[in-house]
Amino acid sequence: MNRAFSISSLFLILFLAIFHCVQSTNDIIGDTCQKLVANNTELNFDFCVKSLGSDSESHKANLEGLGLIGLKLFQANFTGTAEYIKQLVKQKLEPRLLKALSLCLDLYASVEDKDLTPFYKAKRYADVNTWVSAMKANADVCDKQYTRKGGMVPPLTKRNADVEHLSAIVLGILTILTGRA
Ligand SMILES: *[C@@H]1O[C@H](CO)[C@@H](O)[C@H](O)[C@H]1NC(C)=O
Ligand SMILES: *[C@@H]1O[C@H](CO)[C@@H](O)[C@H](O)[C@H]1NC(C)=O
Repeated sequence: MNRAFSISSLFLILFLAIFHCVQSTNDIIGDTCQKLVANNTELNFDFCVKSLGSDSESHKANLEGLGLIGLKLFQANFTGTAEYIKQLVKQKLEPRLLKALSLCLDLYASVEDKDLTPFYKAKRYADVNTWVSAMKANADVCDKQYTRKGGMVPPLTKRNADVEHLSAIVLGILTILTGRA
């Protein structure tokens, strides 16, 4: 084996190793999102990939780690939305809108204060599922009352949708994890 050959094969191996690494990190997110989207028509593939990919840790995560990342994103999103509603209701608003936002605040606040990550880490997936489902349901009720009343500016539509989509990601990953167990 001559020197030039061994150097070029070294580069080739290095290239393949890096390529493989990049590919497999993309795959866990892409594969998981594909499974989730296939089973849930509400969920958007790009939203899923973008959300889970937004955490630098997700590039070396397995499915369980990806679920934890999803759960953290979901909780941050939920809390962020609750905080946003708290700010909104302090403003001078049309009474009908204020009433609707107050209901949303109640709905969010009633399930907001629980950190679910210890339960997830302890693999208490049924408990996590129950809580996330309740949080998703409350965001949904908050959202739905707008469409029924109509004619109002819905300042929460996008945030509620984010919360609902992130919860769908978490619940979908839990389903896969428990199906395996
Ligand atoms: C909620 O999640 C969406 C989608 O991942 C993101 O764009 C948004 O910034 C998040 N908001 C908060 C408050 O975390
Ligand atoms: C797919 O959806 C069905 C019906 O909602 C559910 O029973 C099943 O557990 C889901 N599977 C996954 C992988 O999410």
